[in-house]
Amino acid sequence: MIAKPEFADLRGRRLAVWLCSMRPTDRYRWSMADNDLAKMRSEYASTGLDEETAGHDPVALARRWLHDAIAARVAEPNAMALATSTASGMPSVRLVLLKGLDETGAVFYTNYDSRKGRELAENPNAAAVMIWHQIGRQLRFEGPVRKLAPAECDEYFNSRPLGARISAASSPQSHTVANRAELERRWRETESAGVADCRPTGWGGYRIEIEAFEFWHGREDRLHDRVHFSKVGDHWTRERLAP
Ligand SMILES: Cc1cc2nc3c(=O)[nH]c(=O)nc-3n(C[C@H](O)[C@H](O)[C@H](O)COP(=O)(O)O)c2cc1C
Repeated sequence: MIAKPEFADLRGRRLAVWLCSMRPTDRYRWSMADNDLAKMRSEYASTGLDEETAGHDPVALARRWLHDAIAARVAEPNAMALATSTASGMPSVRLVLLKGLDETGAVFYTNYDSRKGRELAENPNAAAVMIWHQIGRQLRFEGPVRKLAPAECDEYFNSRPLGARISAASSPQSHTVANRAELERRWRETESAGVADCRPTGWGGYRIEIEAFEFWHGREDRLHDRVHFSKVGDHWTRERLAP
């Protein structure tokens, strides 16, 4: 459903701002003047996240939020910024796609010899954040990371379209290549060799064994809701954080 256009008067200009939303209560407005980042402002809805709605099961809540994002037709609703770091603590971040989320953790797939793969070999801990602008929500989680079992990687690899399997098998992710032509040559050679039916051992999945979640819901006047869960043994403890 498309929200009606709303207008904000900034620097004498009337700028049309509008957003899509499935749920009017979650609608927020975005104003922008002359591409000036300092002047960009989002107004968040008055609904938020209270303790009753948050409950005591953060995995169930995270899955609900993901479904809300899908229902709101957010672009790439399962994209998450994934932060890793070297053993000495130098961080790096990039987007990956969340491919599974349950009590065992959050799953993503990549090249084990990529920068993130090498950093995870040195320091098997990660943090991730998902942003769903249209519904004014952010989800963070973090924890130790383990490689998935080969059978689980095979199952997902085999479910991918052929072109994506060839790319995974032919692209030395995060390593320098001479030019685009080299990438395309590698892709064609892999295609002709017919090896993309078999998952390369250097490509597979990881599971973040989540030990902490934070649910952020935008509220009016920047008085946002932040509900944090930490895993203690088999249980989750819940607390509210100041925005
Ligand atoms: C929306 C989006 C989704 C992406 N999903 C993945 C993914 O699931 N796995 C992956 O390896 N790279 C994915 N990428 C590419 C990564 O952001 C990144 O370029 C690549 O993994 C290399 O990162 P690294 O050099 O830090 O290891 C995605 C990029 C975008 C923009």
